[in-house]
Amino acid sequence: MTELVKTGVEGLDSILNGGIVKNAAVLISGNPGTGKSILGLQYLYNGVDQFDEGGIYLTFEETEDDIQQAAESIGFDRWQEYVESGRITVYDKHALLRDGDFSSTLDRILDDLRDTNYDRLVLDSLTMFQLFFEDEKDQRQYLLKFIDILKDSGLTSLLTTEQSAIFPETDIGLENFLTDGNIYLIQSPAGATSNRYIWVAKMRKQSIKNSMFPLEIAQGGIKVFEQAAGFSMVGESPPWFGEETE
Ligand SMILES: Nc1ncnc2c1ncn2[C@@H]1O[C@H](COP(=O)(O)OP(=O)(O)O)[C@@H](O)[C@H]1O
Ligand SMILES: [Mg+2]
Repeated sequence: MTELVKTGVEGLDSILNGGIVKNAAVLISGNPGTGKSILGLQYLYNGVDQFDEGGIYLTFEETEDDIQQAAESIGFDRWQEYVESGRITVYDKHALLRDGDFSSTLDRILDDLRDTNYDRLVLDSLTMFQLFFEDEKDQRQYLLKFIDILKDSGLTSLLTTEQSAIFPETDIGLENFLTDGNIYLIQSPAGATSNRYIWVAKMRKQSIKNSMFPLEIAQGGIKVFEQAAGFSMVGESPPWFGEETE
């Protein structure tokens, strides 16, 4: 039977039919403000808090203090305790950008994850990661190497990316092909009763509930309402995406 890693996010594991397939690398895609970073923090926090699984958080965008504040402000009260005890390791932007040369930084981190005993990893964001490589060939090569090492190290990973959901999907980036799953976080313009949604578009080796479900961000983190009737993405376009489909 496939081994699954539970996110511990209310409602989400049920949409995923139990959780994320162990050793998968899953893209978390969405525009700014849709909750990608919070989902990443919550995934690692729940890992330690509920499942006794350690985690690594890599961020190019924030400092360790920023992350602590973000975690505590949303109610992950023991975040700092877990960091101090080594159950969660944070590589913040200073740690990642320390060596002038990014590929040596990458080698240092990869050595660290091979040597240690973590179960979960979050990279926030893959968009920034890719900016370090000038041409597409290098991007592809490093992305492949990186994802391979994550898997070999027994990690189940979430990689965030600033791509929005596109209907119909066109111009799909390379990262979509190299990863095992793609979860979109979507925010519609204000006015709708619930304006945040989650859509699990793809999950290799796993049957999933492939419609959009309302999502809430509040104290305690992200909550998915899996009971609410999700609407099918087949043959209809949600009203806020503007373009009519035939
Ligand atoms: N404590 C909170 N309560 C309610 N909503 C929050 C809280 N903290 C953050 N948010 C919401 O989460 C959004 C940011 O999520 P974030 O994970 O930083 O987005 P992303 O990483 O996709 O840019 C904010 O725009 C805010 O609306
Ligand atoms: Mg973010």
